[in-house]
Amino acid sequence: MIHRKPAVSESKILTQIHLEAFEDFFLSTLGSGFLNTYYSACLKSTESISICTVDDNGRLIGFSIGSAKAKGYHKRLVKQNFLAFFLQGIAILFSKPYALWRLVLNMEKNKINDDDGNYAELLSIAVSPNAKGAGIGKEMIAHFEAEAKTKGCKKIALTTDYYNNDDVIAFYRKSGYEVFYEFTTYPNRKMYKLIKNLV
Ligand SMILES: CC(C)(COP(=O)(O)OP(=O)(O)OC[C@H]1O[C@@H](n2cnc3c(N)ncnc32)[C@H](O)[C@@H]1OP(=O)(O)O)[C@@H](O)C(=O)NCCC(=O)NCCS
Repeated sequence: MIHRKPAVSESKILTQIHLEAFEDFFLSTLGSGFLNTYYSACLKSTESISICTVDDNGRLIGFSIGSAKAKGYHKRLVKQNFLAFFLQGIAILFSKPYALWRLVLNMEKNKINDDDGNYAELLSIAVSPNAKGAGIGKEMIAHFEAEAKTKGCKKIALTTDYYNNDDVIAFYRKSGYEVFYEFTTYPNRKMYKLIKNLV
């Protein structure tokens, strides 16, 4: 098993793992076209941090992706890939208008007063369901943190669900993440913002 940087051309595999790992989550309901646009934009951006795990048969079985600077990252991604996101936006507008509204309202989640967004952010981590529990997630977080350090980041934050999510919270706690604050996204999804100091 190896950990390496995923290529932009692997965005469809990341999308597939996302759909398997995050069944029934809001972003998954937007469909593979949107997710592929999103992951492709992340992988193209020089400010992203991305790691994937490949098994002994050469199969990509997990990934973690985020940004070296949380503040404004998604806005910059949309600007840099405007046409691709615009076309996805039009498609979602006709198929799921309410979902588009929810997406736009929740794009910038750092609205708490003393949160300046001045940290790296782990935006997505997923392991193929049949490879879970084998230490892959833990190793990917360690690689993500190492790359964040080389980019001069002093803290890493992430967002995760507050309710029915004890397993994932336990997983993050084991890697040293602590509660930064709690908040609620539109329409009424309570979340934790977790944070870890790297220095
Ligand atoms: C969350 C996820 C990335 C964890 O990856 P993983 O490879 O399964 O986890 P690991 O095997 O690396 O576990 C690392 C540690 O967390 C603990 N842990 C993992 N899953 C756990 C669970 N369900 N309950 C309690 N502890 C758990 C492990 O026991 C391990 O502890 P140890 O180091 O003391 O042995 C993976 O399960 C996944 O993709 N889940 C679906 C997507 C998701 O929810 N992502 C996070 C969104 S915020």
